[in-house]
Amino acid sequence: MVCDSKSKKGIIPSNVKGGLMTGKLVTFEGIDGSGKSTMLSRLLKINESEPLCGGGTVFTREPTKDTLTGQAVYAAIEKNIDPLAELFLFLADHAAHLSETVRPALAGGKLVISDRYSDSRCAYQGATLNPITPNAFDFVCRLHEPWTIKPDLTFFFDIRPEVSCKRCKDRGAQTKFERVDFLRKVTANFKKAAEKEPERFVILDAEKPPEENEKIILENIRALFELSS
Ligand code: TMP
Repeated sequence: MVCDSKSKKGIIPSNVKGGLMTGKLVTFEGIDGSGKSTMLSRLLKINESEPLCGGGTVFTREPTKDTLTGQAVYAAIEKNIDPLAELFLFLADHAAHLSETVRPALAGGKLVISDRYSDSRCAYQGATLNPITPNAFDFVCRLHEPWTIKPDLTFFFDIRPEVSCKRCKDRGAQTKFERVDFLRKVTANFKKAAEKEPERFVILDAEKPPEENEKIILENIRALFELSS
């Protein structure tokens, strides 16, 4: 799902400073069924009629779709392989995502919006590895630090796991992770990440109507560009 708007006009102006292109990276995080993908579809539609960013917007996701590493990740989830092996496949997918999509788009001054990113690893693999690795959350976060690109802004879609699992059941469960007890641990990890970096995170009440959250998201993205102009 990549959308690259070529328009020079946008809700947010192009982010070119002194000849240097400096794009912005915005990530959507939350447990399964928290409404991230629905919100991204709304933003995609808005972007079609009124471009979000003058320099162009790239909509992307992790795990990546239709790629060697993304397919390996989905096969690993399906086969329920060793959790440490699973973590390293997710990390390989992140590395490929950075070099093939995120880094070039940011270098071109674009707004990049990613449906899931590194915090999903800290939250999910921080939970799957917890019985195996001491301080799994910190271990997984630290594995990213030397080489990842930190998001400028992260929206955390906060929802009770009971509510999200009901939504997942209604649409047909898609992965082994969609269990209330497991998603409670994942939620606790997302909250830990948000507490560590409150300046990066915006916490959304994902049980509220999407119109309200859409407004908050657009305001925060606009403010991000204004701050750096
Ligand atoms: P998706 O539902 O966004 O396609 O992601 C597939 C599953 O993979 C979802 O249950 C969340 C999980 N996941 C991780 O466990 N770790 C990660 O780093 C990412 C990106 C996703």
